[in-house]
Amino acid sequence: MKKLSIAIDGPAGAGKSSVSKILAARLGYAYLDTGAMYRAVTYEAIERKLVDPEAVAAMAEALDMEVLPGQDGMHVITDGRDVTPFIRTPEVSGRVSEVSAIGRVRKAMVALQRKQAEKGGIVLDGRDIGTTVLPKADIKIFLTASVHIRAVRRFKELTEGHPEMTMEDVEKEISRRDYLDSHREISPLKKAEDAVLLDNGELTLEGTAEAIIRICRSKFPGFDA
Ligand code: CDP
Ligand code: CDP
Repeated sequence: MKKLSIAIDGPAGAGKSSVSKILAARLGYAYLDTGAMYRAVTYEAIERKLVDPEAVAAMAEALDMEVLPGQDGMHVITDGRDVTPFIRTPEVSGRVSEVSAIGRVRKAMVALQRKQAEKGGIVLDGRDIGTTVLPKADIKIFLTASVHIRAVRRFKELTEGHPEMTMEDVEKEISRRDYLDSHREISPLKKAEDAVLLDNGELTLEGTAEAIIRICRSKFPGFDA
């Protein structure tokens, strides 16, 4: 059985990265968190105080970005520095949709993503994997849950580091980012026509990974996991 390419798209807090990690570990596949790449570009733009989209685009095109597997998930290295610990702050989350809407930034990231995925045996999570990055992915999942459920999940994660944030703030921020990501001109967040819609509002992470494995088995009868 050939190794599959599995695309998992969906809004913030749907469980994409957690489920992708479980799947990649179980299948012995690579894992690519494409959101972390856009977050790293955003972090660099903030660090360099770049606001003009042209300047952000030029920086992204010149950035030497490497993605490496780590024990705790994927690490992003930009110009030789591991920026992974800095890319999930509220400040980066607040600007990432604006940066990821820039066409030249997307072009640079998509080229890197396709290169990583060219050999198959990989799980990619993001917003436009099934529609743009890998339109021929073997398996396409659009993972979602209600905005309230997703906000509760994110709130639980954030309370330790950011006690000032309320549940209402988190829900507003998630809704804002979903809106921007779904309404941008280039490669908006959208279910690919041939993607399977999976609402995991009532499922655990393990249960979600199991549901995706069943989808793989039903499409590829020789699939072994
Ligand atoms: O983990 P969370 O859902 O909060 O977000 P993420 O996957 O880390 O992605 C952060 C942001 O990057 C998204 O809100 C999008 O603006 C952007 N993104 C994108 O445009 N295309 C992708 N393939 C992945 C992420
Ligand atoms: O990558 P994405 O933004 O789609 O979501 P995530 O970062 O994988 O998941 C957000 C949070 O929700 C994590 O703390 C997950 O453990 C949790 N989660 C959950 O408890 N149950 C699910 N079915 C999905 C996510």
